[in-house]
Amino acid sequence: IPNLYLVRHGETYFNRERRIGGDSRLTEKGLHQAEQLAKHFQNVQVPFIFTSTKTRTIQMAEIIAACQEKSVHVPLKELDEIDAGICESMTYDEIRKQHPQIHVARSMDKYRYIYPEGEGYITLQPRIQLGIKKALYLSGNAENIIIIGHQAVNRMILSYFLFRRMEDVPYIYIPQDKYFHIVSTQTKKLFELKKF
Ligand code: G3H
Repeated sequence: IPNLYLVRHGETYFNRERRIGGDSRLTEKGLHQAEQLAKHFQNVQVPFIFTSTKTRTIQMAEIIAACQEKSVHVPLKELDEIDAGICESMTYDEIRKQHPQIHVARSMDKYRYIYPEGEGYITLQPRIQLGIKKALYLSGNAENIIIIGHQAVNRMILSYFLFRRMEDVPYIYIPQDKYFHIVSTQTKKLFELKKF
């Protein structure tokens, strides 16, 4: 695949409250971000759009696909956001107050920390790798694909192209109004951050 467009879902109601996990829908602003992105891609043929199984990425894909001539949307559970276990649907403030030990342990080693009954970046890695492999296999020799992921998921995908130290990966900035364009050439892989 010469072109991989790596997108994060637009703003959700949970994002607005700084709540993690869950299956929140896009806000008006998030829908607008999706429409802007769809317009941006209307002259680029994107035969495959891969998402997680969460509503927010599916909403994005449907809006983008509506502006494409022919585009297949494939939800992959391997691309679901990190499972925050007992902290799912809580705000960072609530976690700090109700589970101070989680807050402290995670801030000390965010990459290796695993949420009780959930995941960590370190356990997310093989799942995401499998998701990418599936996406590449299913898209065959398509010229362009879009992956619509989540903050932690996109950090893991990007880490491969950015050659970051693993400790830095959980802090990579993943905006909701920009996407990464990853271009594969025979000799090297390049990326750029584009505003839409
Ligand atoms: O938990 C969901 C977030 O998108 C991941 O962000 O690892 O910076 O807390 P975080």
